[in-house]
Amino acid sequence: MKIAVFPGDGIGDEVIGEAVKVLNAALGSSYEYELVKGLIGGAAMAACGEALPARTIAIAEEADAILLGGCGLPGDETMSSDVSATGALLKLRKRLNLFANYRPVKPHRALIGASTLKPEIVRDLDLVVVRETSSGLYFGLPRGISTLPGGERAGTNTLTYSESEVERIARAGFELARRRTGKLTSVDKANVLESMVLWRDVVSQVSREYPDVALSHLYVDAAAMELMRDPKQFDVMVTENLFGDILSDAAAMLTGSIGMLPSATMTYGRKGLFEPVHGTAPDIAGRNVANPIAAILSAAMMLRMSFGLEEEAIRIEQAVDRVLDSGLRTQDIFTPEGELVGTTQMGDAVVAALV
Ligand code: IPM
Ligand code: MG
Repeated sequence: MKIAVFPGDGIGDEVIGEAVKVLNAALGSSYEYELVKGLIGGAAMAACGEALPARTIAIAEEADAILLGGCGLPGDETMSSDVSATGALLKLRKRLNLFANYRPVKPHRALIGASTLKPEIVRDLDLVVVRETSSGLYFGLPRGISTLPGGERAGTNTLTYSESEVERIARAGFELARRRTGKLTSVDKANVLESMVLWRDVVSQVSREYPDVALSHLYVDAAAMELMRDPKQFDVMVTENLFGDILSDAAAMLTGSIGMLPSATMTYGRKGLFEPVHGTAPDIAGRNVANPIAAILSAAMMLRMSFGLEEEAIRIEQAVDRVLDSGLRTQDIFTPEGELVGTTQMGDAVVAALV
């Protein structure tokens, strides 16, 4: 098992440090594996002048899986994603054809009270957002900022999907739905956007191969509303890149904290990139307060999805369950009855809880 480890920026270093600690403890000497560290984002810019150096691409290409912390710097919003730290992650997704991003949303039983939604709305919630991550509005051409004849500037991005791109992400959604409760919701904006008319059409065509999966379609605005009103109606949601970015953050808050959410981004086969959904959180970086659970659960997803180590994945997930049941809390999930701990203490506790 060759695992690329890219801590990246902000809290990336701290949370990946804990994930690696847990990974080492879980795999021990029973497995042969190699961790290869690489630089990405601002960390790579500082060391070698570019956010996605050739060396990092090579490590990623040679690895069976990539464990990533976070990628991006404050100020990225003022520059093109072609050169920004944030853009490195997008380029990596594109380069490795990482098109299927899985974001499971499953509030922990001990944290139901940490959600801003009523307990009965989120208790036993279990859904997965399957987000397309290699095309759509993030990558469509033309894009850029140009100057109009009158002298004012105009910004352009393009939402485009080919049939094959929709087909493969639809398949990812159907395959997952088939293994879960057999319910798939495709989220689009077919009432306004031609790209989404095509999306809906292709998803409907693919559905003929999955008679055991009940497919429904929802416009993205209604999907956002329903996600807040009655999230338990959903099982698997499959959607466009930007829609999935927004919906998955919204869905994350159903669990009480985005600090709890892992993700997997797969290409064909078993290769994938595993990262917490939360990003770099520069405001709390370097203070040992970040929640490492999303990173730790991302490592568990990696064992399951890239290496087929279902039992080891479950061991890690159960260790996290036990630690949360015991009342340990980082600040983002803190409630008065809990015991406040830092990043490293949380990681140590998960290691100690592995059985
Ligand atoms: C995510 C993040 C990224 C995205 C950023 C950091 C480029 O928000 O993975 O959800 O927009 O895809
Ligand atoms: Mg996001």
